[in-house]
Amino acid sequence: MTETMTPDAQAELQAEFDALIAADQRIEPRDWMPDAYRRTLIRQISQHAHSEIIGMQPEGNWITRAPSLKRKAILMAKVQDEAGHGLYLYAAAQTLGIARDVMTQQLIDGKARYSSIFNYPTPTWADMGAIGWLVDGAAICNQVPLCRASYGPYGRAMVRICKEESFHQRQGFEILLTLMQGSEAQREMAQDAVNRWYWPSLMMFGPPDDESPNSAQSMAWKIKRFSNDDLRQRFIGMLVPQAEALGVTLPDPELRWDEENERWITSEIDWTEFQEVLAGRGPMNAYRLQHRRDAHEDGAWVREAAAAYAEKRSPRERSETKRGAESDREAA
Ligand SMILES: [Fe+2]
Ligand SMILES: [Fe+2]
Repeated sequence: MTETMTPDAQAELQAEFDALIAADQRIEPRDWMPDAYRRTLIRQISQHAHSEIIGMQPEGNWITRAPSLKRKAILMAKVQDEAGHGLYLYAAAQTLGIARDVMTQQLIDGKARYSSIFNYPTPTWADMGAIGWLVDGAAICNQVPLCRASYGPYGRAMVRICKEESFHQRQGFEILLTLMQGSEAQREMAQDAVNRWYWPSLMMFGPPDDESPNSAQSMAWKIKRFSNDDLRQRFIGMLVPQAEALGVTLPDPELRWDEENERWITSEIDWTEFQEVLAGRGPMNAYRLQHRRDAHEDGAWVREAAAAYAEKRSPRERSETKRGAESDREAA
């Protein structure tokens, strides 16, 4: 479409787009947008959706073994929220012109990325606490600024997601707090889980600013509002008093506040580990992907049944359902 346009018309559309961004207005699905902006959003939103979906696995692993009925109910609700997050985000990506089955295929073919944090194992119950506290905590730091992302459907999806994420973080904190008030063995289990999840959670903000080439463009487009390092700093600042309240130690002997530069000083992050996991060589990459593939194949009959049902209904019935949905929306 863009190629057949005259240079003048193209420049005019670009100027309108730039003005909307400069005025902090939202770009909506029907608005013209540069191809690179669209591609960046499709990549980012679909990766984000895949992360929510794959992210159900490390915790789903513990639903049957959660220590009480109450813990099972909470964990089940949390994992179900993550499925919902995946669905809002796939829907947001679809408004950019990519079909959901295309995104699913990219994921199960191993061609799409998702957050590398979900390629770590969850050997103990304390991992449920550490994931909620650290992984959902990092997700909140990353995602709160995304509520103001320039692309309307993405920003609006993030508002609801963030509300649920803050519940997730608190339930994780509460699991750790309960363990820390328990026996010596329980305290050790909580500390061990924090030791294993702390560094990977810091990596969730992505590489350092000087090695993050796409960040500047995303910030200019107001998709991203803060740099990776700034978000990481904010996250550490949030963790320090919470770790103290829990009575756990953050596994970094160098960690301290630098009064003069108003920044947290930390040990070097092991970026080779990050690159390895990203390249598919983390402890659980192959397992997570295979599990997702199996779930997709096991669900084939549901998709076939839904398609057959839709086919069987008369056009009149179908339009009645549509009208019903419309009047529901008006009534709401
Ligand atoms: Fe989520
Ligand atoms: Fe979450």
